[in-house]
Amino acid sequence: MPLTLARQDLLPGLNLIGKHWVPAASGATLDVSDPATDTVFAQVPDSGADDARAAVDAASAAFPAWRKLPSRDRAQILKKWLALITEHVDDLGRLISREQGKPLAEGKGEVMYAASYVEWFSEEAVRTYGDMIPEPAMGRKLMTVKEPVGVVAAITPWNFPAAMIARKIAPALAAGCTVVAKPAEDTPLTSLALVKLAREAGLPDGVLNIVTASRAKTPEVVDVWLADKRVRKVTFTGSTAVGKHLARASADTLKKLSLELGGNAPFIVFDDADIDAAVDGLMVAKFRNGGQTCVSPNRVFVQSGVHAAFVEKLAAKVGALKVGPATDSTSQIGPMINSRAIDKIEAHVKDALAGGAKVVVGGARIRDSERDGPHYYAPTVLDGVTTTMACSCEETFGPVVAVSSFDTEAQVIANANDTPYGLAAYFYSTDIRRVWRVADALESGIVGINEGALAAASAPFGGVKESGYGREGSRYGLDDYMHVKYLCQGQVI
Ligand code: SIN
Repeated sequence: MPLTLARQDLLPGLNLIGKHWVPAASGATLDVSDPATDTVFAQVPDSGADDARAAVDAASAAFPAWRKLPSRDRAQILKKWLALITEHVDDLGRLISREQGKPLAEGKGEVMYAASYVEWFSEEAVRTYGDMIPEPAMGRKLMTVKEPVGVVAAITPWNFPAAMIARKIAPALAAGCTVVAKPAEDTPLTSLALVKLAREAGLPDGVLNIVTASRAKTPEVVDVWLADKRVRKVTFTGSTAVGKHLARASADTLKKLSLELGGNAPFIVFDDADIDAAVDGLMVAKFRNGGQTCVSPNRVFVQSGVHAAFVEKLAAKVGALKVGPATDSTSQIGPMINSRAIDKIEAHVKDALAGGAKVVVGGARIRDSERDGPHYYAPTVLDGVTTTMACSCEETFGPVVAVSSFDTEAQVIANANDTPYGLAAYFYSTDIRRVWRVADALESGIVGINEGALAAASAPFGGVKESGYGREGSRYGLDDYMHVKYLCQGQVI
């Protein structure tokens, strides 16, 4: 089925390089498929090294004028972009649903989430203050100013096609950087539409450039950016393996990096928790985007005194979730993104069952007349999960809740931290002393305390350990796109 939008021109189907919307230099194209049915419904350029280089040429040429523009003028353009994104929330939401598989209401919610980052950084653009430093010797003035780092390469994932690119591009533009962007191969359309709206908002030629590429061609594009000394920063959301590659490969030109990588979030429920609140928090955190988020609780630890009651209440809610096409307004969980994703979910469940875990609810793919596609998976609760099972060691990235039981606080903290990752962690407790103890002990960049919905443009998003470094959103988010210059003036008499 073709995708019909109120504004069909939000599907340019081309790269933006400098002032022109262009095909790949080679003429190659990449098919975009509906994740529910695997049918192709759009095409975009399958870009290569020439396109990547041309994008950097454009971004580099645009940088001197953009960085000199008063920050208030840059903020005004971001505000116009925000207004256009909000005006086109229906079209953008439909695009997200179609290419990524989120139910429509959630797709529109993501558009507003993306917009919140544009709004936040349109406001922060004018607050990039430096410092005056008390002089250590007579006759000198010491001060710092913040400067944009230069050309930024933004490489974004498929799970939030609008929000992830917005929270990279908005701070980069606010800081005075210019951008070359590459969206994920599965979900290029939303990003292209957002870039089109940014141009309509008045973004000058070359300030924002975007190229799309297939999985096979992505290394060609990214390698050009990694090797080019004009690219001063890479910002990436995706797997830890790719993040490590980017860190190694950008070492020769010592680029600044922001890496928002994989997680393996623990979700801990203590005996003293409000059990209903904990179930509700887990539902929100786990089933957002069908479990396909980096902050999705991957390991659920429930203290033995409340374990049975918690699992029973949870299973009732999980079993009631409606799985269906993204276009159906009653769907709560859409299809998974592709066959690799659902194969991994299936493999994790199989491995857990082989190791002795039990299915409480779900536990299989669904395919019937309503869900006529290969990528639907039933929301699942597994109980009796152990620390060595695949679903405890790696992100399942799907609608599977893996529950295990524990006895002591010390034991659960040790288990929660026993992972190379440290992006998000959650816990529920009503004991005020325990709250501070556990928040302090968890090795994680983000901690939800009696709360499952953590996302906010005003809050810093990012991890520790092998979940990466750098922060997105918040007052820290702009610093990642700037460096501090120290000025020392002498002969001040
Ligand atoms: C992610 O999954 O990488 C982002 C999720 C969020 O912004 O909450």
